[in-house]
Amino acid sequence: MKGIILAGGSGTRLMPLTKITSKQLLPVYDKPMIFYPLETLIQGGVKDILVIIAPQYAGHFLNLLGSGQEWGVKISYEIQDEPKGIAQSFLIADTFIGDDDVALILGDNIYEDDFSSSIRSFEKGAQIFCKKVSDVQRFGVVEFDENGQVLSIEEKPDAPKSDYAHTGLYIYDNSVIEKARHLKPSARGELEITEISDQYRKEGTLKANIVEGCWFDCGTHDSLLEASNHIQKSKQI
Ligand code: G1P
Repeated sequence: MKGIILAGGSGTRLMPLTKITSKQLLPVYDKPMIFYPLETLIQGGVKDILVIIAPQYAGHFLNLLGSGQEWGVKISYEIQDEPKGIAQSFLIADTFIGDDDVALILGDNIYEDDFSSSIRSFEKGAQIFCKKVSDVQRFGVVEFDENGQVLSIEEKPDAPKSDYAHTGLYIYDNSVIEKARHLKPSARGELEITEISDQYRKEGTLKANIVEGCWFDCGTHDSLLEASNHIQKSKQI
């Protein structure tokens, strides 16, 4: 299993904090944001990790993460020249992925859960991780039937069919590269990760898991503060 951390984008919703650095390098309590998704992959047993970064602050990521030796993993880097959506990661990373399966995590998503059993036991298809939230319109939305089967996945719908967000960790088999090659940009001009998961759903190979612990997408000032406060509190216990 290869790992990818997507840490590109321009972080416009966090301006002016992101005027002089990348969103994923901002502090979340006592660590740079990207440490959290990195530790989630490492805890899951992933040892070969590609970090996809925007060109402006590429050197900062190298200074911070280096070769990965500090964590006992191999870290390499690719540049995302223009942010064209999360699913673009699989096109940027096709050589890195090679013939392997891949776990993609967003560089601004923070989880408390340990995903090692999902990662280690993965064989084929796709595994996604869903969380009930109060502001689901901000996310990809996953609709379930009474047996927990996924009925639909929609990106930021106006009329969400459930309260479950499609969070920023995705485990896909190698066919994800081919699936990404056939995607067309959405109305917002992005290759949507929800469409990748939806293709696996249509094939009948999608498994949806529920995230048990807290989950934060640190893309806004409020969620960034909330994540920092939560981590500070959990360290005091
Ligand atoms: C992205 C995805 C969305 C997902 C979210 C998780 O949203 O498009 O499906 O639920 O990440 O953080 P964006 O960061 O583009 O708002």
